[in-house]
Amino acid sequence: MNQIKSYIAEHKERFLTELIDLLKIPSISADKAYKKDVLKTADAIKDSLEKVGCDTVQICKTDGYPIVYAQKIIDKNLPTILVYGHYDVQPPDPINLWDSPPFEPIIKKTDKHPDGAIFARGACDDKGQMYMHVKAMEFMTATNQLPCNVKFMIEGEEEVGSANLATFVKNNTEKLKNDVILISDTGMIANHVPSITTGLRGLSYVEVEVTGPNRDLHSGLYGGAVANPINILTKMIASLHDENNHITIPGFYDNVEELSQKERAEMAKAPFNLDTYKKALDINAVYGEVGYTTNERNSIRPTLDVNGIWGGYTGEGAKTVIASKAYAKISMRLVPNQDWLNITKLFKKHFENIAPQGVTVKVTPHHGGQGYVTPIDSVGYKAASKAYQDTFGKTPIPQRSGGSIPIVALFEQELKSKTILMGFGLDSDAIHSPNEHFGVWNYLKGIETIPLFYKYFTELSK
Ligand code: BES
Ligand code: MN
Ligand code: MN
Repeated sequence: MNQIKSYIAEHKERFLTELIDLLKIPSISADKAYKKDVLKTADAIKDSLEKVGCDTVQICKTDGYPIVYAQKIIDKNLPTILVYGHYDVQPPDPINLWDSPPFEPIIKKTDKHPDGAIFARGACDDKGQMYMHVKAMEFMTATNQLPCNVKFMIEGEEEVGSANLATFVKNNTEKLKNDVILISDTGMIANHVPSITTGLRGLSYVEVEVTGPNRDLHSGLYGGAVANPINILTKMIASLHDENNHITIPGFYDNVEELSQKERAEMAKAPFNLDTYKKALDINAVYGEVGYTTNERNSIRPTLDVNGIWGGYTGEGAKTVIASKAYAKISMRLVPNQDWLNITKLFKKHFENIAPQGVTVKVTPHHGGQGYVTPIDSVGYKAASKAYQDTFGKTPIPQRSGGSIPIVALFEQELKSKTILMGFGLDSDAIHSPNEHFGVWNYLKGIETIPLFYKYFTELSK
């Protein structure tokens, strides 16, 4: 790939301005109030894909937000890369914790990003990372160096479970036919320690409701005599982990694959400093399942976490009350071979089982998906590794991530192809949190590395 560095240097300012414009549109898929903005973002992506030389660019309607599809087929005998990304973002709240408004992007220097980072919701997850692919495409078409066929599929519902994308994929297997899927929606270890994500955790997300008396009660007149749904709910939740922080749901670990000592030793080679980790989070100790390291706990082990809990009086001052209902949202991160539908069933059965007399329990599943692992001896992995070697001057480390992109397992099932996860974000980029950002260096490095993946994938596929 000739001239990639000079092309980026020449067009850097425009690459940044274009991304900043995209980040100004609040494409929050979870909140219906932003429907117009989500749709506007889809149109903006469509325009950008047309501008960079895709032949067919379509807005594909679904029962929810549309999928932007584009392709450029140069030769049927050459391999085809399918690029996936998402243009929707997480809600920005709590808004008061942002140092600058989430949809008014600004570039600021940070310790980890001395060249500056773009602060905005979606900067890293995933508008910034998705847009690297659009700009990489621009480079390849503008300099006549596109080495293979390419298809883009950019969705607007990733942050809410990708339910309509699943249907779209199942109904369009021919259209989406490819030799490898390429995604930048994960992270890497550090700017000087490139890594390729080789695993994603699965997910089961549920909501629980505990109901006691038929109305809120005076906590003096009734306290002690009836089951308090908040007391009961917190007790039930606390019982979901034992003293070793193992999850107590019967059958939960049945299909969990235990890694060999050799695999674990290999994993432990990835650079990691516990003190830096604790300092970055202002905690005096880490916490988790006995017998596993921090890096194992957040990648190869399944977890159960309360994501939200509410009920009773939470306003100013005090109100003496026993609430009629208490609620919680719970996520379980799963590892490959754990089936999310089965885990959801096991959770529901167990949670209903442990409810004491005096309350009723309702468990409502939200969304979920299977985990994913990919081998490091595939053509795709080797091509990615070579691309990083060229642009970072180092062999990237394979690393299993704790996050989830549930659609990746479905891609493998329906499209029969492997996914390569080339993420350029850092864990400290605060995705889903206030002050999300994406390093300018990372953005440009992504644009530089992606075309080399195309090159090596095409060469190695011969
Ligand atoms: N891009 C993230 C997932 C991710 C981030 C994976 C960093 C690995 C490293 C994605 O947008 C996301 O947030 N996924 C959700 C699941 C989804 C069903 C809402 C998640 O992991 O919570
Ligand atoms: Mn994402
Ligand atoms: Mn996300």
